[in-house]
Amino acid sequence: MVPSLFLLLLVAGAAAQGHDDAVARRTMEEFAGFPASDDGEGDRRAYALRVDSEGLQRQIDELASFSDSPAPSVTRVLYSDKDVQARRYIKGIMKELGLAVREDAVGNIFGRWVGHEAELGAVATGSHVDAIPFSGKYDGVVGVLGALEAISVLKRSGFQPKRSLEVIMFTSEEPTRFGISCLGSRLMAGSEELAQSLKRTVDNQNLSFVDAADSAGYKIHPEDLHDVFLNQDTYFAFVELHIEQGPILEKEGIPIGIVTAIAAPASIKVEFEGNGGHAGAVLMPARNDAGLAAAELALAVEKHVLDSGSIDTVGTVGILQLHPGAINSIPSKSHLEIDVRDIDEKRRNDVIEKVHQSAVEISKIRRVELSEFKIINQDPPALSDKAVINAMEFAAKQLGLQYQLMISRAYHDSLFMARISPMGMIFIPCYKGYSHKPEEYASPEDMANGVKVLALTMAKLSLE
Ligand SMILES: *[C@@H]1O[C@H](CO)[C@@H](O)[C@H](O)[C@H]1NC(C)=O
Ligand SMILES: [Zn+2]
Repeated sequence: MVPSLFLLLLVAGAAAQGHDDAVARRTMEEFAGFPASDDGEGDRRAYALRVDSEGLQRQIDELASFSDSPAPSVTRVLYSDKDVQARRYIKGIMKELGLAVREDAVGNIFGRWVGHEAELGAVATGSHVDAIPFSGKYDGVVGVLGALEAISVLKRSGFQPKRSLEVIMFTSEEPTRFGISCLGSRLMAGSEELAQSLKRTVDNQNLSFVDAADSAGYKIHPEDLHDVFLNQDTYFAFVELHIEQGPILEKEGIPIGIVTAIAAPASIKVEFEGNGGHAGAVLMPARNDAGLAAAELALAVEKHVLDSGSIDTVGTVGILQLHPGAINSIPSKSHLEIDVRDIDEKRRNDVIEKVHQSAVEISKIRRVELSEFKIINQDPPALSDKAVINAMEFAAKQLGLQYQLMISRAYHDSLFMARISPMGMIFIPCYKGYSHKPEEYASPEDMANGVKVLALTMAKLSLE
């Protein structure tokens, strides 16, 4: 093991003579958060190693101005004019940084800093800049603009990557327009099912995905969708920087979260049907009330989730509709949508199986028909890669930043990148854990910490 990654970082590049050593050491200490040792090997020069927090904040504010709702809220939906403007803005920064910019058929944007062993798998980072209606300006954005600032920090430090470093802006992490979350990364990870369904997908204006993409300047021929798929060896590692979207780091006063696993949801639609009838005329023994069947199933979901024995298993009945929905009418139909999440796929799927058994039993006991029990999606959870976790921990330690190992309960493009690359995520605190609303906020200091940990993590992985 090398004595310090910083020596590598700082020795790199054409070190000019005559730079004040004491200044170099002080700057290095500021960046690293630990005393710099001088073992007398050659010339060292620290370039400006600080994160440009003001510049990053200015970019975040500028990007937030591309919005279809008034500030402080942000609305930026896939392939809208504002989304196109945001894309142009990101590509502009990539070009300014000297990155090689490429876009794939659906508009995933890649900015690559080519390493001196360019044939090796690259180290990638990135996130999304689309924003659900009336949300905030940090979700996803910190992982794109922050990643570009991390590249900038490394460039200013004189670092020379061995493996190429790449920043990715993913298309449509949010499901707002076409009901498909993580569209870009899901496709990159090789989802044949998605490649097929995108040919037929329409938005709520009945505008097809292909036509919407066309309006944003992406001419998609259905065969091109397969060109989005990436090989398993494209990336050596993928690391995403993101706001926590939860309250833990802020509450504990810990600046960095290192994500060890990403929980994944399974969604289920259920329908019960009964005979309905007049609320006064049909006597209780004669009823088969579809609403009560739904109520019982909702309680069964809670019971099975709690019975899993793990705090990481969560289940929610977020939609419960009754038909015809009149005070004097026995519900003849009920519709439930159930979301079950866990970081353990088997445990989550066991809960779903038990929910299914309960639905069948309830329908028998209450003499209603279980007319639908449909698993809408069942994405597998993902574990972070051990080597990537090690690199993130190494970086946080080098920087003297306290960190906490934690689970991501929301899911991210990283969930899909994990299918084609060793993956890890870095979380930073956000105000009260707020997200998807205008009050979303991360402090410049917390963002700077995240950028530094990301920069060092990528630098370390690049040299492996
Ligand atoms: C949506 O558009 C397609 C093709 O243009 C058309 O056939 C279909 O009827 C439309 N559906 C609705 C609900 O308007
Ligand atoms: Zn996000």
